[in-house]
Amino acid sequence: MAKSPEFFDGLVLGVETSCDETSAAVVRNGLDLLSVVVSSQIDEHARFGGVVPEIASRAHLENLQPVIRGALGQAGIEMRDVDAVAVTNGPGLAGALLVGIAGAKALALAIDVPMVAVNHLEGHLFASLLSGQEVELPAIALLVSGGHTMLVVIRDWGDYLVVGSTLDDAAGEAFDKVGRYLDLGFPGGPAMEKAACDGNPAAYDLPRAMLRDGYDFSFSGLKTAVVNAVEAQNSSGDALSVPDMAASFQEAVIEVLAVKAIKAAVDFGSTNVLVGGGVAANGRLRSRLTEAGEEAGVRILVSPRELCTDNAAMIASAGAFRLAKSGASPLSTGAAPSLRAPFVLAQESRAARGSRE
Ligand code: KG4
Ligand code: ZN
Repeated sequence: MAKSPEFFDGLVLGVETSCDETSAAVVRNGLDLLSVVVSSQIDEHARFGGVVPEIASRAHLENLQPVIRGALGQAGIEMRDVDAVAVTNGPGLAGALLVGIAGAKALALAIDVPMVAVNHLEGHLFASLLSGQEVELPAIALLVSGGHTMLVVIRDWGDYLVVGSTLDDAAGEAFDKVGRYLDLGFPGGPAMEKAACDGNPAAYDLPRAMLRDGYDFSFSGLKTAVVNAVEAQNSSGDALSVPDMAASFQEAVIEVLAVKAIKAAVDFGSTNVLVGGGVAANGRLRSRLTEAGEEAGVRILVSPRELCTDNAAMIASAGAFRLAKSGASPLSTGAAPSLRAPFVLAQESRAARGSRE
């Protein structure tokens, strides 16, 4: 059954500072995107090869005001026109989250409007709705970012059962680590995709861990396999082809993601798969999933590429949903670096059912 989420009517200003992007956006009635501004700190973290939490917090402090002003200006509105402020309160880096939360609270207090806290991953899920397509429930969501890799059954809007997650590295984290190992810089994901364009995905035979085994993922063995293949190549005296290795690695990750997402859709009787998170910006993942979906009769809904990586449009949209569903958050809301709710693990759901029986 096609079922759209219900949204708060009005202008929501979204604020996102959970990792290394400072972003603000304005969304009207949940899905009408008026503006989005993203200030990336990539250059500040690149020389350290990864995100440095202290640097991230300080950069958010400097960037937040101009980014919010930019988003209001682009939307052609003033601060007093905003009807609610939505902010990511987790999961993410504690110090980084606190900057956005403090800013959002101050604004909400100043103009006397509600403030609503949003789970960053629920934001990634709502990003795929910003393309305006209707979703049939139950749907499957594949959330693939730098910190998470999850397969989720959307039983209803706000009711999410996590049926699979990574046992070790997240998909984006694996891209970043292998990218760094191959000297492609930071972040590794986009650099690996670029390098892979000129490479042969069948050049190196890399493992597809747990391919036909449930919905969980494991990427750390793949990372080790890359290191072993590079060392074997070096000791054979032949030059390593970085594009071939990048393409072979990318293909191995993507095959596992695509096979499991489609399997989950078939097993849970769903004809819709939503894809979100930074790795969903990967062109090969998008085309591979679309092909696999066509074969299996499953529709793939993925956000525009620029809304896959961290941004506040998705937070404003998910915030408009949260306001309609659960109302405003208290101003005592703090940062929740390991926030899970509203996502529930399948084993927790079974345990809860068991204790009621
Ligand atoms: O969602 P996101 O912006 O931040 C987190 O919530 O983690 O995801 C960032 C992750 C990084 O690991 C980055 O390397 C990866 O997404 N990523 C990509 C691509 N663009 C970003 N991975 C593969 N291919 C891409 N084109
Ligand atoms: Zn993210």
